[in-house]
Amino acid sequence: MDSILVKGGGPLSGQIPVAGAKNTCLKLMCAAILSDEPLTLTNVPRLSDIGTLSDLLRSLGVELNLLADGTVMALSGRDITNHKADYDMVRKLRASFNVLGPLVGRTGHAIVSLPGGCAIGARKVDLHLTALEKLGATLELKEGYVHASAPNGLKGAVIEFPFVTVGGTENAITAAVLAKGTTVIKNAAREPDTVGLCDCLIAMGAKIDGAGTSTITIEGVDRLHGATHAVIPDRIEMGTFMLAPAITGGEIEVVGGKRSLVESLCQKMETMGMDITETDAGLRVKRVVDRVRAIDVVTEPFPGFPTDLQAQLMAALCTADGTSVLEETIFENRFMHAPELIRMGAQIDVDGGTAKVTGVQGLRGAPVMATDLRASVSLIMAGLAAEGETQVNRVYHLDRGYERIEDKLSAIGANIQRISE
Ligand code: UD1
Repeated sequence: MDSILVKGGGPLSGQIPVAGAKNTCLKLMCAAILSDEPLTLTNVPRLSDIGTLSDLLRSLGVELNLLADGTVMALSGRDITNHKADYDMVRKLRASFNVLGPLVGRTGHAIVSLPGGCAIGARKVDLHLTALEKLGATLELKEGYVHASAPNGLKGAVIEFPFVTVGGTENAITAAVLAKGTTVIKNAAREPDTVGLCDCLIAMGAKIDGAGTSTITIEGVDRLHGATHAVIPDRIEMGTFMLAPAITGGEIEVVGGKRSLVESLCQKMETMGMDITETDAGLRVKRVVDRVRAIDVVTEPFPGFPTDLQAQLMAALCTADGTSVLEETIFENRFMHAPELIRMGAQIDVDGGTAKVTGVQGLRGAPVMATDLRASVSLIMAGLAAEGETQVNRVYHLDRGYERIEDKLSAIGANIQRISE
């Protein structure tokens, strides 16, 4: 199994590019099921999660080819030949559960494995199922699979989520675009990923109003046509890179960075003592204090501070001046990086969903274990400024969400290499 070896060094400097957004791209790929015409996606990130969903879509009959250097994907849902998404595929990647809405919407039936729990929390899908039932699907749970059917098609309805669910909102939207009549989704996710999905569906002929607000209205249409659509830049990769100089010092330019995608992070980083400037190419980020200042952060649905940047922020706060409090409200088990950071000399007290991080003068390298995607990258970032060597094991998590991270970080001066075994 590969590991990543990081040696703590000096400040970072130079340009670092951002790839297309994984969480947007996965949902766009599922949307290909909705049309018998081709969907072409550009700015596709080259990640193992994209490969995993590609395998699932091919198993359903979607024709899928990567073009150019792997950043263009041509999909065709002309012949959906299979309606079953197997446990083996869905358990590897929770976003696979988002084939449910498009399959039922287009073909009237689907059998999709329930995803099960995952390292960061229970991550239930009950709200996805309630939304589909509201749209008129009949659901049965048998042997770990959801059997959904709507032989006469789905019907528009009012769906009100009790709290924000990104995957649930997106499953509801992709089910409703081909339903008869009007669907109103209340308390909808406002994430840029959801907006990206709606933009693509609109380009395919869907009638959607209110994307990016809490109320989304969908007027069902008879069919969707083909389209070409660019995946938005990955705000989590962007934020990860922006936080790197907060740990190491220096000045970097995140090429493709967009402030509107990471506004909540920018505000927190500015309070920490980071200077962020919009440039023609993206965002320039510079540490203007010797040691960043402690801050308090609560993770929230967009436009609040993203749960997917909490681990990286914690790594940056380990050496801050003062005590920071991080509150995680989205997932119940998302501090697994804390014990690993403690092995590197950090001072962190976790109590339920709250972590108190008392800044120390410096971290020390250590062998550490990656437990999930964002936890892995937080350990690499901590290693960038730690004294000595940090070996991050189980990096397959990392390849799910970061495209050649060791090459990108090396190019801005990090001492990092992959060790293949
Ligand atoms: C979540 C994050 C998203 C992030 C993604 C990948 C939020 C609101 N969502 O999206 O930003 O990019 O993980 O890490 O920040 N829930 C239920 N029942 C459901 C659906 C969800 O109880 O049917 C709960 C989940 O367990 C979780 C919360 O609602 O505690 C939000 O989940 P949801 O937004 O659906 O998760 P993802 O779509 O995976």
